[in-house]
Amino acid sequence: MPKITFIDTHGTSRTVEAPLGWTVMEAAVKNDVPEIEAECGGACACATCHVYVDEDWLDVVGSPEPMEADMLDFASDLRANSRLSCQIKVEPDLDGLVVRTPVRQG
Ligand code: FES
Repeated sequence: MPKITFIDTHGTSRTVEAPLGWTVMEAAVKNDVPEIEAECGGACACATCHVYVDEDWLDVVGSPEPMEADMLDFASDLRANSRLSCQIKVEPDLDGLVVRTPVRQG
C-alpha cells in the first residue's frame, strides 16, 4: 500500500498508509493528520485541503485540472507546487509521496 508523508508547518512529519483509490486528502483526514481541513469533503469546492507537493514529486503528481486550478485561486499563499489534496488520487507510483501543509487553510 502506498505511503504518503505529510510535513506540517512545525516540521513534524507523519507517514500514513493510503489505499489505492483514496485521495491524498482522505489519507490525511482518516489518519487525523492536522492542518488539512477539507471542509467540502472532497468536492473541489473549498480549497481547505491545500498542500505543497515536494519538488521531487511534481512530475509524478502532475498538474491540476482546470476545475482544481480555479479553486486553488481561493487558497492562501498559493505556490507553483500547490495542489488540492482531494484531487490527487492515490496510485501505486505515489508510494513515498511527500507533501507539506500551508500555514493556514482557506
Ligand atoms: Fe474541499 Fe479539497 S476538500 S477542495
